[in-house]
Formats: sequence, structure tokens, C-alpha cells
Amino acid sequence: MNAPSLSDDLLQQMLRAALAAREQSYAPYSRYRVGAAVLDELGRIHAGCNVENAAYPQGWCAETNALGHMIMGGGRRARAVLVAGPGPEIITPCGGCRQKLREFAQPTELLVLAADAGGVRQQWLLEQLLPASFGPDHLRSS
Ligand code: THU
Repeated sequence: MNAPSLSDDLLQQMLRAALAAREQSYAPYSRYRVGAAVLDELGRIHAGCNVENAAYPQGWCAETNALGHMIMGGGRRARAVLVAGPGPEIITPCGGCRQKLREFAQPTELLVLAADAGGVRQQWLLEQLLPASFGPDHLRSS
């Protein structure tokens, strides 16, 4: 699987899914509402929002939630992830989420898109966000 080029239609579907998920965000502490949409190997879109907790470190990110939905739906490979934040600052996945995404994609193959209500603002390959990553292949070859 190579880095996908997403059709405009698919991109719009992912954006809509992430923005709709963002509406469900539970972020009473940071008030930083986030939605995410993961595209799986079958072309299905799985969405998630951030869910915070009074014990702050126990909260989880929108990307993590979307990956959980992908796994529950039977998806095992992530082709692209779109993260929608409040803007205007361009959102970018946290370190923990970069590693979680790594579990389900080769770094050179996963497109990461940053968006807000105005649309997609920036995109990277996971490799750019998580260089020299540790992944499942390391454990397979040991
Ligand atoms: N957050 C996400 O859900 N995804 C990101 O890519 C960046 C940060 C959440 C975590 C926390 O609920 C809030 O945003 C502020 O950090």
C-alpha cells in the first residue's frame, strides 16, 4: 500500500465525519474540541472525539477514539486520518497518538491531514511526524 491520494469526495466525507465527531467532543477542562476521522483499508471512515476526565491524564484524544472505532468495526489498517481542531492554529496529533497510528500503518503510507471548520490546512505523512519509529515489525523480527 502506497501513500494514498484521496479524491476530493473522500476528503470531504472525512472532513464532514471529523467535524460531526467534534460536535460530540467532551472537553470541559481544556475547551479544546477535537474530532478525527480514520479511513481504513476497506475505504470506511471511523470517527472519534476527544473525551477528557477530571483526573486530567486519563482523558483521551479524538484520534485514539477513532482508532478504537476502526478496530471495533473490523478495520486493521489506517490509510489516512483527518483531525479537526478549533483553529486558527493548525492542529497536529500528539506524540501518543502518532505512536498509536503507527501501529496500524507504515509511516510512509499514512496520510495525516490537519483541518478546522474552514477545511484542510496542512498534510503530512506519518513518517514526517514520527521519524525513525518503533513499530510492530521490530517485534516480528526479534
Ligand atoms: N487533542 C486531541 O484530541 N487530538 C489532538 O490531535 C491534539 C489534542 C485533545 C486532547 C485534549 O482533550 C485537548 O485536545 C487539549 O489537549
